[in-house]
Amino acid sequence: MIAGAQAFGIDIGGSGIKGAPVDLVNGRFAADRTRIPTPEVSTPEAVAGIVTQLLDQYEVEDGTPVGVAFPAPIKPGKPIDYMANLDQSWVGVDINQLLTQQSGREIHVVNDADAAGLAEVQYGAAKGRRGLVIATTLGTGIGTALIIDGILVPNTELGHLELNGKDAEHYTSDAARSRKELSWEKWGARLTKYYERLEEYFSPELFVVGGGVSKKSEKFFKYIDIETPLVPAALLNDAGIIGAGYFASKQK
Ligand code: BGC
Repeated sequence: MIAGAQAFGIDIGGSGIKGAPVDLVNGRFAADRTRIPTPEVSTPEAVAGIVTQLLDQYEVEDGTPVGVAFPAPIKPGKPIDYMANLDQSWVGVDINQLLTQQSGREIHVVNDADAAGLAEVQYGAAKGRRGLVIATTLGTGIGTALIIDGILVPNTELGHLELNGKDAEHYTSDAARSRKELSWEKWGARLTKYYERLEEYFSPELFVVGGGVSKKSEKFFKYIDIETPLVPAALLNDAGIIGAGYFASKQK
């Protein structure tokens, strides 16, 4: 594979599937990433085909840790039992097994927000932070990662808390902001309610806000009125890929 890379990471999202070789020493890409649009009907077969295509394109060799960040709770050895924003035919599929079989390489799948959170704690905005860090991703959905003294509590799914009688991600995600054409201020008021709820339940030391919109943090952070410190993700949209590579490198 590419010089300077010790792992390969892939991030499967609602609109794009992105992959890059990962430099685990410095927590960055070792070569430019490739983005392939997510097939309109995002079935397991279609997505697995793209994962294989990316691995072939970068000539990822056997033995290289390969991690895949995926937008659903992932329990190793068990089929997916909940799928919010990709095709429902994923329910019942053992994704580690499917991707490993189809690509011919051993693949380690991790929830996408967990991957992003791990990357931010390892290399980014929460590097070296002790205590409880809650990383959130604001995108098509809302993803959450709980990391305590550097240790991940996986699959927290706090984007689906009930807020105003709705699934929080339908009310507060970045997709909800565009769909409802909310001003930054109105969206900030919704985010305040969301983060206040997390504060109330978990009393974290720090919130990290990721997802593509985090690069516009100066537009909406001023409207989020909570006590806990809140910082934008340092790795922005690269965090899923870097975290997936890191996660894979830590598996036996
Ligand atoms: C999914 C999570 C995912 C998040 C961000 C939610 O709808 O249930 O598993 O982490 O979206 O993609």
